[in-house]
Amino acid sequence: MPVINFHGLGIKITCDFGETIFEVAMKNSIPLAESCGGEKVCGHCRITVIHGIENLSEPEPDERKLMAEKRFSENERLACSTRIYGDVKITTSYW
Ligand code: FES
Repeated sequence: MPVINFHGLGIKITCDFGETIFEVAMKNSIPLAESCGGEKVCGHCRITVIHGIENLSEPEPDERKLMAEKRFSENERLACSTRIYGDVKITTSYW
């Protein structure tokens, strides 16, 4: 099962294959900015991938659109849109 390393918080969580980062964060009371409840609208759940970006789902069209509007870097993703298929290390600007 994949492990998410929430770098900066010192927390590693084993999750289900295909869960979103947002789902894992909410279930485990990880502080994650959001104002749309994970509906891929607000862009506040932006996370930076430190390692393991190849273990994440490819951005879907709605995520790509928001990433372009919000000027995401190549290693930034929406936590609510990103599914986990292997180990990953992520962070945010506020952890
Ligand atoms: S929670 Fe709003 S875009 Fe992810």
